[in-house]
Amino acid sequence: MTNPKIAVFHGPNLNLLGNREPAVYGSTTLEDINKRLVDQAGRLSVEIVCRQSNSESELIGWIQQSGDVNFIIINPAAYTHTSVALRDALSATGIPFIEVHLSNVHARETFRRHSYFSDIAMAVITGLGYQGYGYALDFAVKYINSKDN
Ligand code: DQA
Repeated sequence: MTNPKIAVFHGPNLNLLGNREPAVYGSTTLEDINKRLVDQAGRLSVEIVCRQSNSESELIGWIQQSGDVNFIIINPAAYTHTSVALRDALSATGIPFIEVHLSNVHARETFRRHSYFSDIAMAVITGLGYQGYGYALDFAVKYINSKDN
């Protein structure tokens, strides 16, 4: 049997983590976040792929190509608040996913309180910084392993 596969998708401007508004997003770089996730996935015996794009079209393409993926962890970043197209791509796959935000989007500008993803996500983790991804990965593996599949 092959190991379960988890995809992590990071949206626009998350390539700047570390330098980007560290008071809001923390000082951990995207490379560090991905490295932690890869190490954690190794300990949990799951395959993981981590990808970042500033392009809505590229993110949609990756989601559409996720046929062999058991679970998605996604921080849609600014597309959270704008993208029906990304939402539709996730709906179309039917793959369970968790929406992650580094900052607490509910404690910021009003426009960040609306997400096109939260009502179709299995869960939303917002405001726990980079650790939110780790919690999402832990849950995803437990969920996959507990499912009759
Ligand atoms: C974010 C929150 C979004 O509102 C923002 O546009 C981002 C990052 C977060 O991780 O806190 O780019 O998704």
